Amino acid sequence: MPAVVMREVTKRFGDNVAVDSLSLDVAEGEVLGLLGPNGAGKTTTIRMLVDSIRPTSGRIEIFGRDAHRDAAGVHADLSWLPGDLAMFDRMTGAEHVEMVAAICGADTSPAAPLFERFGLDPTRPVGTLSRGNRQKVGLVLAFFRRPRVIVLDEPSSGLDPLMQREFHALVHETVADGSTVMVSSHQLDEVQHLVDRVAILRAGRLVVVENVDALRSRAVRHVELQFADPPDAAVFSDLSGVTVDHVDERAIELTVEGLMGELGAAAAAHGAIDIVSRPADLDEVFLTYYGEGER
Ligand SMILES: Nc1ncnc2c1ncn2[C@@H]1O[C@H](COP(=O)(O)OP(=O)(O)O)[C@@H](O)[C@H]1O
Ligand SMILES: [Mg+2]
Repeated sequence: MPAVVMREVTKRFGDNVAVDSLSLDVAEGEVLGLLGPNGAGKTTTIRMLVDSIRPTSGRIEIFGRDAHRDAAGVHADLSWLPGDLAMFDRMTGAEHVEMVAAICGADTSPAAPLFERFGLDPTRPVGTLSRGNRQKVGLVLAFFRRPRVIVLDEPSSGLDPLMQREFHALVHETVADGSTVMVSSHQLDEVQHLVDRVAILRAGRLVVVENVDALRSRAVRHVELQFADPPDAAVFSDLSGVTVDHVDERAIELTVEGLMGELGAAAAAHGAIDIVSRPADLDEVFLTYYGEGER
């Protein structure tokens, strides 16, 4: 049985169709990334899953239980981290854990190593914490009771790279223990080492569900090669998947589709002294693969 089943789920806010006939299965033990630019419908999808809002139409089941009619049953085994996490400023991290544990009938003891892992002091009122540290408390709350399903809305926001790695490790351990994780993001780079599959939303519609490796092998990047001497751009425009966008005295700007290996080798062979690379944003990925017609 899939962990999550969504069938033709639609959510309208007045005339605005935030989620449009979305059908999606998430397998047990999977890490699924819900990707899409801002306004695509990720948060709306997640809020319907966790029954914080109700679909206009369609069906959502979590391990065979209706997300709304059997919400109590579902939530005994599901935790979620909202994008706009609200906490009680005067309460400490440990007190938040106690509160959640009391509501869910869970054991608080697994929380202590998580606080330690994220370098958090559980005795500090959360109102005195930085945004990043509040987000980490949110992660502790989502993970400490090891629920069967964990849903995270843009969890990496505000985490520094070291803590992102810690967070990824925690997800992988939790999944190895049998949990299923759904995580939203507006950046492929942020989740590419975290998820097994990605479901890409655009304007409320599911555009594609794909294995993350397949998507990465087609990803688009912008690359700037820097040189000490005027470079020969022709060498690079001949490479497959490479488009030369701009050539200047000491630099070449390129767009690369797919893996960087060939370009890296050519850059080294032709005297590049530095390579600066940044991922194309999701909108550009869409335009490259799905064309203007999707707009
Ligand atoms: N409570 C709401 N009332 C009206 N419109 C909403 C509400 N929540 C979301 N929307 C609209 O639904 C669309 C999807 O929003 P959202 O799910 O927050 O996208 P994402 O999380 O992908 O950025 C947007 O057009 C947004 O303005
Ligand atoms: Mg959102």
